Amino acid sequence: MTIRKILAYPHPILRQQAEPVTIFDDELKTLVADMAETMYDAPGVGLAANQIGVTKQIVVIDLTGSDAEEKDLIILINPKITKGEGSDVDEEGCLSVLDLNAKVKRFTKIWVEAQDIDGKPMAFEAEDYYARVIQHEVDHLHGHLFIDWISSLKRSLYKKKRKKQLQAEQQHKASA
Ligand code: NI
Repeated sequence: MTIRKILAYPHPILRQQAEPVTIFDDELKTLVADMAETMYDAPGVGLAANQIGVTKQIVVIDLTGSDAEEKDLIILINPKITKGEGSDVDEEGCLSVLDLNAKVKRFTKIWVEAQDIDGKPMAFEAEDYYARVIQHEVDHLHGHLFIDWISSLKRSLYKKKRKKQLQAEQQHKASA
């Protein structure tokens, strides 16, 4: 297993539509294992494949947190949210959106269809925090980030801040 580099906004791959997975082989298992390790290392509660530069419809989630002794890894291949109901506003952050947390409106309950790592179809319902995390991760697969759902003012402030950070990094590299 390898810890992969997590791409950060405004990396263009984060804006790409991910392709469905059609081959359920050992290569997929290795990729998913790398994604899980990368997520636990970060640490985060979810990771989509585009975040490590792979435009495939794969999501890993573990709501137990990185310190938990018993991991509860959820792997969703080609996940689709077929229905949603209710709404709730709560704080979100993202491993690809550095230094920002903001309130985002999400469905409180969703119906999900996906495949497991062997390609077996599954369908389930998710609520509250779990539903929020799935919605956030499925967004990634469609090239969306949670900053797309915050106010345009907050988004433009964040874009400016991030631009400055990147300029500072560039200058640092140039002088190093
Ligand atoms: Ni994210």
